[in-house]
Amino acid sequence: MNKTKKKDSRRSFIKKAALGTTVLAGSPAILSSKNMQQKLLKREHQEFSRNDQIQIAVIGAGGMGVADSKTALSVPGVKMVAACDLYDGHLAAAKERWGKDLFTTRDYMEVLNRKDVDAVIIGTPDHWHKQISIDALRMGKGVYCEKPMVKDISEGHDVITAQKNSGKTFQVGSQGLSSLGNEKAKELFESGAIGQFIYAEGFWARNSPTGAWQYPVPKDASEKTVDWNRYISNTTKRDWDPLRFFRWRNYSDYGTGVSGDLFVHLFSSLHFITSSVGPNKIMATGGLRYWKDGREVPDVLLGMFDYPETKAHPAFNLSLRVNFVDGTSGTTYLRMVGSEGAMDVTWDDVYLRRNLVSDPIDPFLAEKTKNTTKIFSERKKMRPPKEAHYSAEKGYKGAHYDHFTNFFNGVRHGKPVVEDAVFGYRAAAPALLCNDSYFDNKIIHWDPVNMKLR
Ligand SMILES: NC(=O)c1ccc[n+]([C@@H]2O[C@H](COP(=O)([O-])OP(=O)(O)OC[C@H]3O[C@@H](n4cnc5c(N)ncnc54)[C@H](O)[C@@H]3O)[C@@H](O)[C@H]2O)c1
Repeated sequence: MNKTKKKDSRRSFIKKAALGTTVLAGSPAILSSKNMQQKLLKREHQEFSRNDQIQIAVIGAGGMGVADSKTALSVPGVKMVAACDLYDGHLAAAKERWGKDLFTTRDYMEVLNRKDVDAVIIGTPDHWHKQISIDALRMGKGVYCEKPMVKDISEGHDVITAQKNSGKTFQVGSQGLSSLGNEKAKELFESGAIGQFIYAEGFWARNSPTGAWQYPVPKDASEKTVDWNRYISNTTKRDWDPLRFFRWRNYSDYGTGVSGDLFVHLFSSLHFITSSVGPNKIMATGGLRYWKDGREVPDVLLGMFDYPETKAHPAFNLSLRVNFVDGTSGTTYLRMVGSEGAMDVTWDDVYLRRNLVSDPIDPFLAEKTKNTTKIFSERKKMRPPKEAHYSAEKGYKGAHYDHFTNFFNGVRHGKPVVEDAVFGYRAAAPALLCNDSYFDNKIIHWDPVNMKLR
């Protein structure tokens, strides 16, 4: 692929910068985040020639593999050439979707051996992420690997080393951190919009069988249509079990529970916004309360995390919850709380609430004022807005599109991506350690800088 010159879209930049100035006009620091401006520029499309097409393959063409592929193909200059899956129904659907000439196979090495494949999307269950990523990088492919980057805490460094040795682009698929919402939250956070950062909380609630992973099993599922032996070849040997294949999230051999599935998104966003490398203390509790269908993982999980002080942020606490039995409604949020306000962050919106006034009936303050001889000025001040709602412009293509654009800029131009193996491991680690804390009933100490258990 030819390397072409980066072309910044000045008009688009000005538009985005303007978006950031409209509401909090009373806070000049918020408007002048240089870091943020550079990041916005980095996300812009870069030029490429007609024959500079990136050819991709998907390994694991199920729900997310297909969603990833569709988004990837909506980025200009990308073509699908091959698909790998262990269920024949998904390979047949891939040919229907992307043309009868599409190369299909059950063996991912056949995809990696192809010279016409520049990059692969890995959309398999979690227990295959590490090995396929390492093999793909070794074969010189760019890799977009779904989250969590690895299934077990012991696997992260191997992927980091493989990425380093290959010099290839590796992006983990927690797409939310590429969103306009996360980008705006980062800008606000860095400009001190919520004062001193103290605490964050995240919540993921669901209340339906599908939401709780009771996926339908295809009628034709059998050992003939599914390559069961290959599926379990890197884990415990067992007899054919369609539930373990199609509802893999429920079983510890293949999935990483609610924390690996959902907490990991919240860690990725939080680490991106705060430039944090992760917590040093991890505690989890929870239980299997409702979906007693033979699953091995909890349907309610509560995690608590201590983040130590770094150059980027003060020490703070984080609490995360997943509830698959939430009778109120399904919802999700990430709230960041500081000494002067709070932000609710989603991928498309940020709600900023500021509280700059001290409470007039605060007894502690009243007592303090009583004893002072200082005379306060009576004149009132202008106050900045208490509440601001930032929302993405209509027609925004979304976090997923932005994440793939960032990935392909890496593949095409060798630019760094937002969620490389180090970032991906630091987001996956506390999620995976939640499971260890829950199952082993213990507090876990983690060194987030060196990415090692303590
Ligand atoms: N980023 C997100 O928002 C998001 C959303 C959903 C899922 N995911 C992630 O995507 C991954 C897949 O989840 P899903 O919901 O699409 O599961 P899925 O069961 O729908 O799809 C997994 C596919 O992988 C195939 N497969 C299994 N082992 C394979 C192997 N060794 N080689 C080739 N194919 C293999 C299966 O046949 C299946 O088609 C998971 O890691 C999950 O955490 C991410």
